[in-house]
Amino acid sequence: MRAVDLIQKKRDGFELTTEEINWLIDGYVSGQVPDYQMAAWAMAVYFKGMSTRETSDLTMAMVATGDQIDLSAIEGIKTDKHSTGGVGDKVTLILAPLVASFGVPVAKMSGRGLGHTGGTLDKLESIKGYQIERTQEEFIKQVQDIGISVIGQSNQLVRADKLLYALRDVTATVDIIPLIASSVMSKKIAAGADAILLDVTVGEGAFMKTIDEAEELAQTMVDLGKAVGRKTVAVITDMRQPVGQAIGNRLEVLEALDIMKGQAREDVTHFICELAQMMLSLAGKNIDLETIHDHLVNGKALAKFEEMVVAQGGDLTDLHRQSSAEFITDIKADRDGFIEALPALEFGLFAMRLGAGRAVKTDSLDYESGIVFVKKIGDSVSKDEIVAKIYSNQKLTENLLTEFKKNVKIGMTKNQPKEIVKIIS
Ligand code: URA
Repeated sequence: MRAVDLIQKKRDGFELTTEEINWLIDGYVSGQVPDYQMAAWAMAVYFKGMSTRETSDLTMAMVATGDQIDLSAIEGIKTDKHSTGGVGDKVTLILAPLVASFGVPVAKMSGRGLGHTGGTLDKLESIKGYQIERTQEEFIKQVQDIGISVIGQSNQLVRADKLLYALRDVTATVDIIPLIASSVMSKKIAAGADAILLDVTVGEGAFMKTIDEAEELAQTMVDLGKAVGRKTVAVITDMRQPVGQAIGNRLEVLEALDIMKGQAREDVTHFICELAQMMLSLAGKNIDLETIHDHLVNGKALAKFEEMVVAQGGDLTDLHRQSSAEFITDIKADRDGFIEALPALEFGLFAMRLGAGRAVKTDSLDYESGIVFVKKIGDSVSKDEIVAKIYSNQKLTENLLTEFKKNVKIGMTKNQPKEIVKIIS
């Protein structure tokens, strides 16, 4: 076979066979197919799409390029969760220990943030000592012992995705449904959990800009999961504004702790309880929202989280310390009204410029910087009331402040966005 023929076939709108897809992926991982041909193929997929069968073949060809984790030594239905990328998305930090606090094992491999979206690993690494690298044996033993572990994805898992994702990132081929679906689901399938909850974000701050697109991605991933015997449910969640109040690594850990102490806004607390209910149900436990809420705010989830931090070498005193950012700048409302918009993309990019995120993979992070929104969409504000606080280790220029304020939209309409837009199962 020749890569050029497969690129041409896709460019002209034809389906590739299973053998052709296997050949392309194997060839790419072995170095036989160079980046420029893979990039051309990804761009052809952007314009011509892939059939359900091709997407499924691509996913399984990618799974086969690395280890597959065998979690069978852990008793019970093992659950996993994945988000397609969000701003201020600290959900895993709370959801994983909350679900584990009901005796459902959570064995989770997480990723780092890139661009305007954050990553769970970076948040966990803002805790002094927290080890994200574990051998497969240590990972399984920890889940057997305490029911939870969140670690970094092993380099030996889905090697094709590591290469292809980096290539897509620099060739404008990330936001393609079959390529996102195969990237996410190959990792989830290889990571070995029996049940998977997918959080498909939609809106200006997400890869999927419309509900129709998000639904198509969600359905594609649910079908891929089910086809290989994994219980899979997707929730479509609104990413018009950041999740919760904080963006930034330490600040998000602190917000997660507040949520687990019952000291957070009710909207984000309720949202996490709803996700936990779905994840527990996937594991065969039907638990009412009130009981889940109790576990979340009465310290059970927090105790589980602290147990995990200690098991992975983290320092509990450091876990609870405040951000040490040098400057805290208050942003005040310039008029009375309601918050009408807090565009997630703009604030994600703003936090990245403060050092909370990476523009390129090799950037180092400032764990302490970020933003805390005191007000969210739908909240009423009075002139001069604090809307947000910016944490930074650099003094903010007037230009930056003006840019920030421009994105806080205050008007007379009271919108009340719901976090969960739709459930696909
Ligand atoms: N997240 C992934 O893991 N892969 C993608 O392609 C997009 C989001």
